[in-house]
Amino acid sequence: MSIADAFGRAADYDRHAAVQRTVAGRLAGRVAALPLAAAPRILEIGCGTGLLGAALVDRLPGARWHMTDLSPAMVERARQRFAGRPDIAFATMDGEAPDIAGRFDLIVSSLAFQWFADLPGAIGRLGKLLAPGGHLVFTTMAAGSFAEWRVAHDGLPCGTPDYPEAGALSAMGLGVTIEALPVRHHDARGFLHAVKAIGAGTPRPGHKPLTPAQLHAVMRRFEEAGSIASYVVATCVLGASGEQARA
Ligand SMILES: C[S@@+](CC[C@H](N)C(=O)[O-])C[C@H]1O[C@@H](n2cnc3c(N)ncnc32)[C@H](O)[C@@H]1O
Repeated sequence: MSIADAFGRAADYDRHAAVQRTVAGRLAGRVAALPLAAAPRILEIGCGTGLLGAALVDRLPGARWHMTDLSPAMVERARQRFAGRPDIAFATMDGEAPDIAGRFDLIVSSLAFQWFADLPGAIGRLGKLLAPGGHLVFTTMAAGSFAEWRVAHDGLPCGTPDYPEAGALSAMGLGVTIEALPVRHHDARGFLHAVKAIGAGTPRPGHKPLTPAQLHAVMRRFEEAGSIASYVVATCVLGASGEQARA
């Protein structure tokens, strides 16, 4: 299943998106404190159902928004959330290959960039869409995410993607802060259900599924360790200080 289809089928997204809501809320606070132009033009990548917008639109009065997502179904849900707002436009767009005219004072995204195949290339392309003095600010999953699930594999192949280290993100010209958000699930099944319900169950490319017996053993070890899975979230900023990544 494609990434867009996986997210498109995540009908229950908002009910299972407690971490995403927390991350979006903190990112909104960070963005609201930026020195933005008056009536800023804002491009959002991977808007999903609109959690970040919900936390931010009223804090940036006069802004003109373009909310975009790879999944048409997600765009539709964001459109419904913000129905009747003439200041918000919606489009289906691959944020890795942005196809949009104009320059933006702010490009913002929460927990979508970890799906990009070529993060440095995407940052370069998005940076070129920034107006002078503009900011690219995003959160993404970083190394250490779901480490507890990986450890429970005890040497078996794990489908959890390889997320970047903070140093690799800094090397892309980004200012980076890292935060770990441990989540205790009811059991391993609850963890797997939550990951699938938010559309994030797509394994790393080439991953071969475990046999039922292997998966059962992994789930048992995960539960014996407390059924905790940590999101390690990087908040990344490319602004006036990150010009080199735009060249
Ligand atoms: C975990 S959700 C986050 C959604 C929302 N930003 C939030 O905080 O709730 C990831 C979103 O990224 C979108 N996405 C994945 N790859 C993308 C891409 N290449 N371009 C744009 N959006 C993408 C998915 O469709 C999904 O809506």
